[in-house]
Parts: sequence; structure tokens; C-alpha cells
Amino acid sequence: VAHFGNGDLAPLLRELADFEPTAYERVGVDRALAILVDLALVQQSHLKILDVGCSVGTISRLLASSGHQVTGVDSDVVAAVQAWQDPDSISAARRGYSMARCRFIEADIRTFLDTDDGQYDVALLLSVLHHWLSGYGYVGVSRFDRVEIRDTLTKLCSVVRRCLYVETPIEDEAAEMPEDPLGEFRFPGWFVESGLARSVTAVASTVATNGKPRRLWRVDLS
Ligand SMILES: C[S@@+](CC[C@H](N)C(=O)[O-])C[C@H]1O[C@@H](n2cnc3c(N)ncnc32)[C@H](O)[C@@H]1O
Repeated sequence: VAHFGNGDLAPLLRELADFEPTAYERVGVDRALAILVDLALVQQSHLKILDVGCSVGTISRLLASSGHQVTGVDSDVVAAVQAWQDPDSISAARRGYSMARCRFIEADIRTFLDTDDGQYDVALLLSVLHHWLSGYGYVGVSRFDRVEIRDTLTKLCSVVRRCLYVETPIEDEAAEMPEDPLGEFRFPGWFVESGLARSVTAVASTVATNGKPRRLWRVDLS
């Protein structure tokens, strides 16, 4: 295989070789692969990708290594409320992962969308959305109100040309999460119901960095 997705397979294989076999899916390699395979199937190459809530940046870096141009944005809200995450290590990891085709920005996505004038082909929302209504760490930090969720996602979709990849909890974990009492924010279906997307396609079953089973969806925009 000369090309993987849009890029060279070799950098991805080198990245895989650096991880313990049992750990690679926990840091996002399987999710980067699932996205790259899906993009390759629909023949999308040399894309501008916005990774919303990129955390340490592993997935951003892998997609950039495969030929895409990636912007990772994270406000480090999880690191601020969960002791097991160290903001300094996260920043150091991102600095190490920066490369010509991969830039990282420490900002809340709301601020980023207000100030950035870029257009993107694809945006990632991997294990991000389900926290916005309740806030993080079950203590309500960085909670969005309903209008903010609608406005932020509408604004995000307006700067993305093709599709989103959205990762959601499966039912078992969804039961642990505080439910939307009004039943509005059911992702990924919400994007179609609100007229922002024309279809939703299941891409893969995945494992989040916390070890929880998740589902990855492609949301094709209207
Ligand atoms: C559960 S982690 C998922 C990290 C990564 N996407 C993954 O799947 O491995 C959620 C990430 O989203 C970031 N995040 C949450 N809300 C955000 C916001 N409003 N703006 C920027 N980043 C945000 C958090 O800081 C955290 O790093």
C-alpha cells in the first residue's frame, strides 16, 4: 500500500511500533486508523482537519503524519478538574507533537471559533460533546448552557465543509452520565434533527482513553 488515506503509511506504522500492544488503542491510534480508513473509503485526501478537544494531541499528530493538515484545540478543562491529568505534561506532549502540518492551540473552542477565520474540511469531536451539558468531572466545570451548545455546534458546522467525526458513549456509559432532562442533545442524531447534517453513519466501535467503550460516527454535513 503506497498511500494510507492521503498519506504515507510508514509514519503511522512507526507510531504504532512505539506503543505497547495493549495500550495503543487507549491513546487513540485505533481511532486515528478508523478515521483514516473511512476518509480513504470516501476518497478524501489532503484535508484540513480541526480536532476539537484534542487533549495531548495523539490523534491530531497521527492524522498529520498521514498527510492531512491538522489544527488541535483544547482548553485543558479536563486537566483542571481531574488530578490524574497534568497540564504541564499535556502541553509538553503537544509541543513534541507539533510539526509542519500539525498546530496546537490552547483555547476554549467557543473563543477559538470567535477568533479563527479558517475553513476546515473535517472536524473531530471525540469524547467531547457528552460533557458539555453537565460539565466536567461531575462538578459542573465548564458547563455549556443549551443556547451555547446550539450556537457553538452551528458555528462549528458553518466552518466545516464536509463532515464531522463524533465519538459518543454507548448505552452502558450513557447510563452513568447525567441525562439531558429535556432529551434534546442526543448525539449524533441531533445534527440531523437540527438541519445541520444530512446523514449519520456508524464508522467503528472504539475505546476512549479512559477505557470506556464508545461508538464513532461520521456526520455528513448538509
Ligand atoms: C474526554 S477528553 C477527549 C480527548 C480526545 N478527544 C480523545 O478522544 O482522546 C475531552 C477533551 O476535550 C477538551 N474540551 C472539553 N470542552 C472543551 C472546550 N469547550 N474547548 C476546548 N476543549 C474542550 C477537554 O479539555 C479534554 O481534553
